[in-house]
Amino acid sequence: MSIASGGASAATDLDNDVAFGQKAQLQTKAYRTSMSLAMNDTSMLSPAAATSTAEIRKCFPALERTHNGYPVAYFDGPGGTQVPRTVVEAMNNYLYHRNANTHWAYPTSEETDAIIDSARSALADFLNASPTEIVFGANMTTLTFHLARALSRGYKRDDEILVTELDHHANIAPWRTLERETGVNVRMVKMIPETGELDWNDFSRQLTRHTKLVAIAAASNALGTINDVRRAGEMAHSLGAQIFVDAVHYAPHGLIDVRDWNCDFLACSAYKVYGPHIGILYGRHDLLSSIDFPKLIPAPDSAPERAETGTQNHEGIAGAAAAVDFLASLAPGPARRERLHAALAQLHERGDALITRLWNGLHEIESVRLYGPPPGTARTPTIAFTVNGVPSIEVAEKLVGRGVFLSHGDFYAMTVVERLGQTPHGLVRAGCACYTTSEEVDRLLAGVRGLSTAR
Ligand SMILES: Cc1ncc(COP(=O)(O)O)c(C=O)c1O
Repeated sequence: MSIASGGASAATDLDNDVAFGQKAQLQTKAYRTSMSLAMNDTSMLSPAAATSTAEIRKCFPALERTHNGYPVAYFDGPGGTQVPRTVVEAMNNYLYHRNANTHWAYPTSEETDAIIDSARSALADFLNASPTEIVFGANMTTLTFHLARALSRGYKRDDEILVTELDHHANIAPWRTLERETGVNVRMVKMIPETGELDWNDFSRQLTRHTKLVAIAAASNALGTINDVRRAGEMAHSLGAQIFVDAVHYAPHGLIDVRDWNCDFLACSAYKVYGPHIGILYGRHDLLSSIDFPKLIPAPDSAPERAETGTQNHEGIAGAAAAVDFLASLAPGPARRERLHAALAQLHERGDALITRLWNGLHEIESVRLYGPPPGTARTPTIAFTVNGVPSIEVAEKLVGRGVFLSHGDFYAMTVVERLGQTPHGLVRAGCACYTTSEEVDRLLAGVRGLSTAR
């Protein structure tokens, strides 16, 4: 763990680690008591326990970048977050000193095996899974296509799969492909455009005894809406269907719990959670062990490796584990999962405050239209908006002048944008991350205000 500042020497890093470790130990005692009292009650956690935004910012070299005289404000986290130094160091360390292929009898290969095993444990802590339930792959999209193909070997014509209008197309297209290949029917649950929420009445209507799988996002990457996936899982399981959760957008904003959510499968991407470009698939161990995954005969037959194809991105795996450890380093606690719990509870609270400021500020600008659920409801700190008469790409281009980087378009959540009637220009999307400050929010607001008055 390191929260060392930019350009610090190795000795300084170590000093910081030791200092933080001692502070953490002191805080741990009080924290452990509160944790044992209330594992799930975030209100029991002392806000002082987590690392401040100012300290967090020192971990990200990207924040030293300036544009047009402004420090860059990265609101593009929903498209990919910035990466802390420790993650890059873990990847460098792997490539410089341990680079090898797996399962051979010499030190660098053994070290590679150990790094992958330890990364599975880190990701298992992140998701509350077992290490043998963690599958690595190129990205969420590729892993989902792979899983869909494997599951389809057990499907028959007229079986049904439920997807939702709120989803990124990475959680639609892999299932739609099976319509052509296997003859299954894909049914789409409606969203409510006015609220940006899922239409649960439609969900109940569409779920039938023919449903084999419900594919649903934990949170919408376009609107920030958080879906009640536990409820979706209960409903699916009551009719004998399985549930696949796309947690890509949710992962940096709340602690995932595959056991509590009762997921059969869940996917996320490390590059949305301060890590490198690599995907992670959770599958219940009995399912990963029994599904007929396409695989090479000589490749391992046991879970989780039987679900992985070819040589993995070892440095990416090392980086994904370091990203989990980075998050866990932001709050003290007796075990990694508990530190993650405390850190994400704090980040969620900070994100709520930032998004309330941003939403209220945008709301006051007459020409701005906001989409999705308002603050105070189940949402991530991601906001979608449009400015009357200004195409979303122009909004993004103009804000660059103030050093504000944000995304525009459909973010591959194409159906959401269609249902909101916002094709072809799409939406402007601003997402807060662990390094976002209220000054940056105010700069974004000033930029949008300036844009409206300039027209
Ligand atoms: C909600 C959501 N699901 C899936 C994806 C696709 O993830 P990947 O790029 O890892 O395939 C994204 C990427 O933006 C996303 O936001």
